[in-house]
Order: sequence, then C-alpha cells, then structure tokens
Amino acid sequence: MAGKIPQHFIDELLSRTDIVDVVGLRVKLKRSGSNLSACCPFHSEKTPSFTVSQTKQFYHCFGCGAHGTAIGFLMEFDGMHFVDAIETLAEGLGLEVPREGGASKGPPQADNKPLFSLLQRVASHYDAELRNSPSTICYLKNRGITGETAKRFKLGYAPDGYDSLLNQFPADKKGLISTGMVAENDRGGSYARFRDRLMFPIRDRRGRIIGFGGRVMGDKEPKYLNSPETVLFHKGSELYGLFEARKAAMDADSVLVVEGYMDVVALAEHGVENAVATLGTACNQQHCEILFRVVPGIVFCFDGDRAGRDAAWRAVQACLPCLKDGRDAHFLFLPDGEDPDSLVSEQGAEALSALLQKKVPIIDFLFNHLSHDLNIDEIGGKAQMVEKIKPLLAKIPAGVYRRLSEQRLESLIGLSLDIGPAEPAATPKTTNAPAFAPLKGLTTMRRAIILLIHHPAVVATIPADQYRVDSSLKGASLLLDLIAICQAQAGISTGALLEHFRDREEWPIVNKLAATPYMPDGSDIDLEAATPEFKHCINELNQRSHKDELSKVSPQHRTGLLGIGRNRAPGSINSAATSLTTNHGRKNPLDPSGKGPGKGWRKK
Ligand code: GTP
Ligand code: MN
Repeated sequence: MAGKIPQHFIDELLSRTDIVDVVGLRVKLKRSGSNLSACCPFHSEKTPSFTVSQTKQFYHCFGCGAHGTAIGFLMEFDGMHFVDAIETLAEGLGLEVPREGGASKGPPQADNKPLFSLLQRVASHYDAELRNSPSTICYLKNRGITGETAKRFKLGYAPDGYDSLLNQFPADKKGLISTGMVAENDRGGSYARFRDRLMFPIRDRRGRIIGFGGRVMGDKEPKYLNSPETVLFHKGSELYGLFEARKAAMDADSVLVVEGYMDVVALAEHGVENAVATLGTACNQQHCEILFRVVPGIVFCFDGDRAGRDAAWRAVQACLPCLKDGRDAHFLFLPDGEDPDSLVSEQGAEALSALLQKKVPIIDFLFNHLSHDLNIDEIGGKAQMVEKIKPLLAKIPAGVYRRLSEQRLESLIGLSLDIGPAEPAATPKTTNAPAFAPLKGLTTMRRAIILLIHHPAVVATIPADQYRVDSSLKGASLLLDLIAICQAQAGISTGALLEHFRDREEWPIVNKLAATPYMPDGSDIDLEAATPEFKHCINELNQRSHKDELSKVSPQHRTGLLGIGRNRAPGSINSAATSLTTNHGRKNPLDPSGKGPGKGWRKK
C-alpha cells in the first residue's frame, strides 16, 4: 500500500518544473509582457485570455476563470488524476516519486506500478511470440497490416496453451490474475485468458498498457475477447488508440471515432492516424468529454445499417451535454456492408476523405432522426417534434451552439419557444470590467492573504519576530499558515505554495485568491508595490485583537467578517470566505482555542 506523496517532494518537484514548459507542450504560448498567453484550451475564444505566469507558476483564464498550477493543468487538460500528474512531472525530471512510510490518512491507494510493469512485460512476450508465429504474421499481411503499423500499436500474439502465461511469468501469478490475464475456474485452477489470438494492447493516455483485446484468427467464438474490468482497466473511460492518435488528432483538430480495433489499425496503415475506437461498448459521455479535451471536433463513424444508426443515436445523446461553444460533432455513415477497415483497404484513404466531405452535423442528424416518421407539415407533427426534441436540446450547455439549435427548431415550426434552463454558461469576465477597488472592498486580512499568495517573497520583507497576528482572528490561521510555508521556503512560487493546500478545505479559496486580480483595472500588483502594502496590512493586523473585532460587529454579522461584500459570482470568494478555517481542528475562528500566535498553527 503506497503512502502519501510527501509535501516536500511536491515542493521540490514544482521548484524544478516550469509551468511554461508543461503548458507549452500542449498549448501554443505567445509571450505578452511578463506573462505568456494563448487562446484558452478550456473554452472557445478568438482572442487570447489564457495567461501563464512564469513567476507565479500559475495559469489563469480571464474568460472562463480556469486556473491552477502545473499539476492542476495536467489534471484538467490531460484528464489525469493527481498522482498521475505528479508522476508525469517527476518522470520528465527523472525523479522517483517517494511515498511516506506508514498508512496514509486518506483512503489507501493501491500501488499499481508493478501491475503496469507486468502488463508491459506480457506485451513484450506477445511481441516476441508474434515474431515466432508465421501464421499470425501471414494473417496481418493478408489484412494489409505492415510491420511498421504492427509496431506502432505493439500488436502481438498470445500462444495457445492454458499454462503459457504462468509458465512464462511463474512469480507473477497474483498480478496476472488481478490484471485479468489469467482467469480462475471453479475448481481452483487457473489458465491463460487469451490463447491463440492476435493481441491488441490497450494503452491509457499516458501510454501505459492497461489491458488487451484479442482476436481469433480462425472462426472460433468469440471473435474478440477483452480484458475484464480490473484496477487498471475501465472500458467506460478508455479509448483504443487515443495515445497513438493524440498528436495527429490535435494537428487535424478532429478525431474519428470508429467501432473496431482493426478499423483503427487499418486507418493508421493508410495514413489516417487520428482514429480511436471504444472498447466494444457504446460511446458514452465520458468518452466524448475525454476526446473534446484533446480536440474541438469529433467525427463518429458508423455502419450505415440499422445497428449503426442505433449506435449513432446513442452517441448523439452522449455527446449533446459536451457541446460547449467551440466544440462540434459530425456523423459519417458508411455504405452498407463496409467498415472503415474494409473501405480504406479496398478503396484507399481517398474514399474515406470523399465520404468525410458528406459528414452530417450532429444537429442535422438529431433533427432528421426525430422527424423521420413525423409529418412536420402538420400541426400535430410539429407539436410532436417539439415534445421529442426539447429535452434533447436542453442537454446542450447554454451558449451559441444551443441558441442556434433552438433557432433551427423555431424556424422549423414557426414559433418561438422557451426550451428551459441548461447549465449556465460561464459568464466571460473581461479584464477591465467590473472595476473594483481592491483596498476598499477587501478586509485587511484578505488583502494580506492575497498579497502573500501573489508574491510569496513579501514574507521576507518583515522580520519573523514581527508577525504578531492574533491567531484567533477570522482568517488568521490561513494567513499564518501561508506565512510559515513562505518563511520555510524562500523563493517558493505561488503555484508551489497553493499545492500545500490541495487536501485542505481552504483549497478552493486559495486558488480563487490566486486568480483574483489585485488592482482595480484587473492587473496584478508588482512586488515593489506589494511590499509596503503587505507591511501596512500586517502592521494593522498586529494591532488588532480578537476582542476588538468582536466588539465592532453585531452577532449576526460575525461570520461575514472576511467577506468582501461585493457582487461577485456565486461560489467565488465571498461564499468561500465563510468556510475559511484551518484543518487544525479549530472549526470556528471566532471561538478561540487559546493557542497564542506562533504556536499551534505551524505545520508539523
Ligand atoms: P474485424 O472482423 O477483425 O475486422 O473486426 P472489426 O474491427 O471489424 O470488429 P467488429 O466490427 O466485428 O466489432 C467491432 C468491435 O466490437 C471490436 O473491435 C470489438 O471491440 C467488439 N467486438 C466484436 N466482436 C466481439 C465479440 O465477439 N466479443 C466482444 N467482447 N467484443 C466484440
Ligand atoms: Mn472489420
């Protein structure tokens, strides 16, 4: 059982990582002033409002409000989990991620590394077996797959024999069972799940093998066999070929979703490298969301038969909730009896390109599908159409896409309609509106906290013994924690400072504060201006005692002491302020614990 990743390692990692490199690998950044900017990868826009600050090691989009550290960026952009993001950054620096000894506080996390490495060894074994299997090589050749493409997808061969894997990896029986490579029968025996099959390793977004698909080469049943659900392998949230297709898809701004492994492989063989397949399941909303994080356009490719249309209809429903502005989906129906593999193998990639010209926009497909057996020239047909389509259009997030779809319905029936609420669209904030005076609207405590988050270096401009803020003041525990961290680590960046709070309840608020501009025009305050401002705040806070504060406010206002009291979006600073407590067991800062400042609040 792996313990927690120690905070000192995360500090070290972030001090050696440059968020500009991390973001720059995935988004084209342009230098503008002291920051770098780009069109935001998290929402659609024409003019860049996404900025990356090298000094703060923090990104922020003024348009949609997305923000975070290098770790957060990987989590958002690549859809990684926290630990994956840490491991990715560490890998880039050639560092091993250490774990704290003993049990971790949170839910125990399994260490899957040995399982990943086992599946990697199994794949290498299958690869070697493929080289020794003339009949498999012949099968691939007959299907038009060259060695190069087989290598791209790490294709292999699982030899016949129930004991083959266990003989090959005698020390790994447990791992083989938990990854589903070896199955157990009722009588306590165990046997290789995949026998005499062409093997397709399935990789996650980081390229790690998480499972396999295996195809028979004769006419046995079942034609395809997949790894079962395991700790590593979740069919509903993985796509075959995504790791390999990612770059081509980003270059093409679109990804092709097909039905079979062989379709993906054959398309790549013909130079169409941006294709992925679901793992024998219907395409769900999570699949769509994963793909839209990589590209703005999805083209679903289905057989033209009844089953293909049914599958397409399921894909429509999965896709609609993901259609934020800037994203789009199309459908491509193949001639009867063809799949992408047979099409490009028989007629070449040009045949596919020609069909792609005729791809159907998702909204057209939606309207056509629903109006199929209605007579929309009649009132009754129109009314039925509205009834059917309304709940579907309501799934589209509010925005231009949804509005245009609604207009289409309105013009079809000749009436204006109220489709009803969807999730509110992110209200774009522009940098110059609405101006707010930072020093007026914010409490002194909050000003000090913001300044420290924006410029951790200000901490050293005041001698350590001159911080005498009463720890029982509202918000003081957060301030004092921030001070302690900044003092302990000279030169810490905003991003690295924030990462100390990821598991704490202050996490949302410290992030919001990091993304809150300090100046009335929405710009940042520089270190030079921040220094006297911060000194002034600390000075004032030093003189304030908890008792003074209580005497100034009526009881019903006490909980709102830190609120900035201005009209901000729901869920922003104001609402988070009421939960400004530390995780040191003092739930209510207005209920002093008796611990003096400088004691009790320091991190152990
Ligand atoms: P080829 O016949 O090799 O061209 O395969 P294909 O890619 O054309 O596959 P097909 O259209 O028959 O099926 C599409 C996908 O459905 C496959 O890639 C598998 O993921 C899945 N699939 C097909 N047959 C089976 C089966 O018998 N069992 C399971 N579990 N999945 C299957
Ligand atoms: Mn096929």
